Amino acid sequence: MATTHAAAFTHSRSWSADEFAALLESPLTLAVGDARSFALVRIIAQEAELLTIATHPDHQRQGLARRIMETWQREATARGAAEAFLEVAADNMPAQALYQSYGFAECGRRAGYYTRKGAPAVDAVLMQRTLR
Ligand SMILES: CC(C)(COP(=O)(O)OP(=O)(O)OC[C@H]1O[C@@H](n2cnc3c(N)ncnc32)[C@H](O)[C@@H]1OP(=O)(O)O)[C@@H](O)C(=O)NCCC(=O)NCCS
Repeated sequence: MATTHAAAFTHSRSWSADEFAALLESPLTLAVGDARSFALVRIIAQEAELLTIATHPDHQRQGLARRIMETWQREATARGAAEAFLEVAADNMPAQALYQSYGFAECGRRAGYYTRKGAPAVDAVLMQRTLR
């Protein structure tokens, strides 16, 4: 996961293997996918939060993230989640297109949340959808 994450996230800090290990230890964390493409989701009561999703650049545009989006939303619903949340950088158009295609809509913003090397910080767009 850390390798794929580092290859996919070229504009922001990627997560270390230790950080992934800590998240995976929690019974609240749902992991979906494989080494090419994966997502981590935290489910607490009726809320599911997409923590991260990444497809290795060698495997992008093959429909892998679509399959993973469908799987985690189905699984979160089966575990009792009624709403899903995520946040995405305002300049990340591929991810926003993916989320919008599943009915996620903007529900808030954090101004200047994502720092960029040698470029101005970018807003975080908070997105939400109803699962059932
Ligand atoms: C966003 C990301 C996970 C998509 O993964 P993927 O496996 O390539 O996505 P898919 O092939 O399943 O594409 C699904 C949809 O995403 C959108 N999309 C994916 N890549 C895109 C691109 N380069 N430009 C525009 N839209 C794109 C499209 O809507 C696409 O649907 P379509 O093929 O029917 O047009 C991948 O680009 C990635 O890992 N990016 C870096 C990490 C990241 O930004 N994660 C999200 C952080 S919030």
